This record gives sequence, C-alpha cells and structure tokens, in this order.
Amino acid sequence: MSDSYLDEYQKSLDERIKSGSMGYRKLFDLSGRVAVITGGGGGLGRPTALGLADFGADIVVVGRNMDKLERVRKEVEQLGRKCLPVPCDVTKPDDVKNMVKEAVDNFGKINILVNYAGINILRPAEEYPLEDWKTVMDVNVTGVFLSCREVGKVMIRQRQGKIINVSSVRGAFGLPRNYVAYCTSKGAVNMLTKQLACEWAKFNIQVNAIAPTVIATPLTSHIMRDPELSKSMLSRILLGRWGVPDDLIGAIVYFASDASNFVTGQILYIDGGVTSWT
Ligand SMILES: NC(=O)c1ccc[n+]([C@@H]2O[C@H](COP(=O)([O-])OP(=O)(O)OC[C@H]3O[C@@H](n4cnc5c(N)ncnc54)[C@H](O)[C@@H]3O)[C@@H](O)[C@H]2O)c1
Repeated sequence: MSDSYLDEYQKSLDERIKSGSMGYRKLFDLSGRVAVITGGGGGLGRPTALGLADFGADIVVVGRNMDKLERVRKEVEQLGRKCLPVPCDVTKPDDVKNMVKEAVDNFGKINILVNYAGINILRPAEEYPLEDWKTVMDVNVTGVFLSCREVGKVMIRQRQGKIINVSSVRGAFGLPRNYVAYCTSKGAVNMLTKQLACEWAKFNIQVNAIAPTVIATPLTSHIMRDPELSKSMLSRILLGRWGVPDDLIGAIVYFASDASNFVTGQILYIDGGVTSWT
C-alpha cells in the first residue's frame, strides 16, 4: 500500500470525524437501488422483496404465478417503494431477456439480482428419471445462469452490480435421502457463483451466495411432515430450531449493499451451525 493511499484515507477519516458523521450508518442503505428477485413470490422470495424494500430498494418481482407477484407488488407499495411484477420462466432465455428489458425500461438500471427460483424433485438416485434430473438442473442451474447472464450485461454497462445466488447447505453436503439432483444443482450454483465472481470483478460486480439450512417454506414442508427426517435434521442444527425466512434478510441486505463492496465469490452458510460439525 502506497503512502499516498494511506494519506488519502487518513484525510477522508479526518474530514468525516470533523463533520460529525462517519457515514457508516449508510452502508446498508438501499435507497435509489433497483433489485430483481426471481422466485420472488415464493416462501423466501416474498420476505426478501419486503426486506430489500424496507432498506429503500425498488423491486422487480419475477416468477411464474401472477397472483403471487401481484400480492408482493401491493405489499412493497405499502412500504412506500415501487414494485414491478414480471411473469417469467427463468428456464426460457426469451422470457429472461424480456424480463430484463422490462426492468430496465421501467427503472433504467438494475443494481441487485437475487436468484431464488428453485425446485426440488425427490427420488432415489438409482431410479431418478432423466426427465426430472433435467427439470431440476434447468431451473436450479440454467435458470440462475440465464438470469445472471442477462442481468450481468446491464451491470457490466453500469460498472456496478450485486448478485446473490441462493444455494443450500446441500450444495456442499449430501443427504441420505433422495436429493441427488438438488444437491448436485446447488453444488453447481456454488461454482457458478465463484466463476462469475472471477469474470466480473473487473466490472465492479460482486457475486456471492447464501446457503441456508432448512427454512420453513412450502419447499421444505415435506421435511416437517416426516417425523423421522424432521427429528434427525433438527437434532443437527446447533441453535436448536428451524430457520425462518427473516433469518436470511440480514445476509441478503449485506450482500446487496455497499457493506459488502470488498466481498465476492463467497458462500455464506445461514444454517444454525449445521456445517460447523460433522
Ligand atoms: N426453504 C429452504 O429451506 C431452503 C433452503 C436452502 C435453499 N433454498 C432455496 O431457496 C430458493 C427458494 O426456496 P423457497 O423455500 O422460497 O421455495 P418456494 O417453492 O416457496 O419458492 C420458489 C419459487 O420459485 C419459483 N419458480 C420455480 N420454478 C421457476 C421457474 N422456472 N421460473 C420462475 N420461477 C420459478 C416458484 O414458483 C416459487 O415461487 C430455492 O432455490 C431453494 O432451493 C431453500
């Protein structure tokens, strides 16, 4: 680090101390930012839309079910932010291109992308139908890639962007229960996150992922309904409870905001401690 770099930093520190405000409280402020959330009508996407709106962002809520998207639109608007619902199947390149065009036509930019759209199909590995395998890969991997690729073009032009992929504890750890496609797909999301971080750092785009354990949503209701699986999985969560969607908001806001400007290519486990022991 050169002396002039240190001098410059010291000068900025002195000026801020003199002004009576360090500016650190604005690190998480998302006012004036535009966030695209795929799977935004879902169990985790909806609270995330509300969380980002609460920190000041306008929202483009993306998914296949217009009723769910409309509900989010109304809720975001109640918080005083703008919200554009856009129907889109993330596995279809034309849908994704059109979604990005609508977002830019409306808001002029995209600062944040959160990729929630995801599915799971449970079958034993030895009889996993190829069609189901392709369906899971299509949504969980190709859908994330297409959304990143199209939004990435906008962020590259802007020389600014925050991408948050939604992986899972299952991207790093298997489960002796019918998860072959899901685990593989989330492992791919982890690698996609790191690779995009490598390619797009030069454009000032930070690409990170969150990797939650079981959070109570429609996607995980099969776990809650299975007493044996439920007991064994819960016993592994050090903090002794299932996650709730609000447990993700702090991490999402961190990765979406200036607070994470020097952080890229990271997978953050939000898992009550599951991955800290074997
Ligand atoms: N809930 C959990 O415990 C948990 C844990 C780890 C990771 N995740 C991940 O979080 C994400 C969201 O999960 P959730 O619990 O909110 O599930 P959810 O089923 O409530 O929401 C998923 C959303 O994605 C949408 N979607 C599915 N396919 C789509 C497609 N082709 N195009 C557009 N939208 C599509 C669905 O309509 C739904 O609204 C998923 O990627 C999931 O793998 C969830």
